[in-house]
Amino acid sequence: MATVSNTFDLVVIGGGPGGYSAALYAASAGLQVALVEKDALGGTCLNRGCIPAKAFLETAAVKRHVEHSADFGILSSAPTVDFATTQARKQKIVDGLVGGIAAMCKGRKVEVFNGSGSLGPDHAVTVAMADGSSATITGNHVILAAGSVPRLIPGFERGGPIMTSDEVLDIDYVPNRVAVIGGGAIGCEFASTFADLGSEVTILEALPKILPGLDKDVANVVVRSFKKKKIDIRTGVPVTGHRPRDKGGTVVTFGDNEELKVDVVIVSVGRRPFADALGLEGTGVVVSQRGFVEVDEFCRTGEPGVYAIGDLIDTPQLAHVGYAEAILAVKQALGESPMPVQYDRVPWAIYCHPEVAWAGPSEEEAKEAGYEVVVAKHPFRANSRAQILGETDGLAKIIAEVGSDGRPGRILGVHMVGPWVTEQLSGGYLAVNWEATVDEVAEFIQPHPSLTELFGETVLTLTGRNFNG
Ligand code: NAI
Repeated sequence: MATVSNTFDLVVIGGGPGGYSAALYAASAGLQVALVEKDALGGTCLNRGCIPAKAFLETAAVKRHVEHSADFGILSSAPTVDFATTQARKQKIVDGLVGGIAAMCKGRKVEVFNGSGSLGPDHAVTVAMADGSSATITGNHVILAAGSVPRLIPGFERGGPIMTSDEVLDIDYVPNRVAVIGGGAIGCEFASTFADLGSEVTILEALPKILPGLDKDVANVVVRSFKKKKIDIRTGVPVTGHRPRDKGGTVVTFGDNEELKVDVVIVSVGRRPFADALGLEGTGVVVSQRGFVEVDEFCRTGEPGVYAIGDLIDTPQLAHVGYAEAILAVKQALGESPMPVQYDRVPWAIYCHPEVAWAGPSEEEAKEAGYEVVVAKHPFRANSRAQILGETDGLAKIIAEVGSDGRPGRILGVHMVGPWVTEQLSGGYLAVNWEATVDEVAEFIQPHPSLTELFGETVLTLTGRNFNG
């Protein structure tokens, strides 16, 4: 067994969005960096999450466009799906991006260790390499970025028809009947994808509504659009078990002894932090009962010089939050004084059809937090670009605080649902995080015709005057 020893300015464990961005950002600041990853660079987001899921959603969008092409005067035959091509296309995108990260690491002289890293005392990281050898490397600073894995439900062990996002992103066919357990972001993205591709989809959600964290006006648009796609949304129905069928597929039991015969079950009931292989004995790093590594608002663990970021800590499980935490941790390693991440104002984006995007509290959350609020909403139905696209379901909703003069003042939350809203949030995100007022943002001009005019028009309405009632 070969053993090598090395000391770095920074050792990062985990090569997902949090870890690789920490490594690259630190290297760009001149630090000597080691990055430890047991699998492919890019982590869940790139290999088993955001990127492949959005590639599938884009295939679903293409099918929708072809189905509606006659509305635009383009006559074509009904589309058929060759999902093996979809799968190959997705994999090509993923492989290209993974290769890009490897090339960037090489270019910045980040030393990548292909193995499983565990942290011991004195910042020593032992790497159990895939080839059976091991290395011990030491970092003046260490960032833990080991990410998360899908949560499972007892009685729904993976295998055959029971899949999590890990397995379903590898399939090369469209199942006829799909049960999606859990109506959160992951569940809704898969439900939307497979419904558009022609599957019969049922969402089984234990809580009284799907997308429970969303502003209710936004969630209602998603529910209505899903119903148009014939997605059967069953709420208040915890699943109780399943009976695999000899002919393939399984029968899921849920709610009040109800049964559902399906070919594939997608379990999307959240993700749990993956601190399992991190060692940590003899260190001051504390793992909570729920499995999260405990950190302060600067991502500092209980061990000086050791930080934890991304899905490993109890903050929004979003790749871009991992990026922000990576910068925060590296700046501290550099002796700078960064600002903590403001988690209640991060951008959220769900890429189902229709898309959802928001920053800041929903109307309900703002009121619960004690704000006196005023709200404006505008539908995409009235937007010229949305009509040109043929995508008019959706709205923009802005929640502003009532100012000391009794007029709408600071913009607290911007919530959108509809065509390409994940690409339109930046104005709203900036307004919320800049703590801008309605009057300030109303001065800005939006291009015409554009989808973003809806945001501008909704802000204008809050000034008490507007163009489109
Ligand atoms: P989630 O926690 O958002 O939703 C899981 C849902 O499953 C909840 O509504 C819950 O009530 C339900 N559930 C739990 N146990 C159940 C049971 N036994 N039977 C029926 N329903 C049950 O988790 P999700 O959707 O898996 O996503 C994981 C994380 O990844 C989230 O933090 C999410 O925000 C993030 N994510 C973000 C995306 C995005 O921003 N586009 C995309 C995908 C994931």
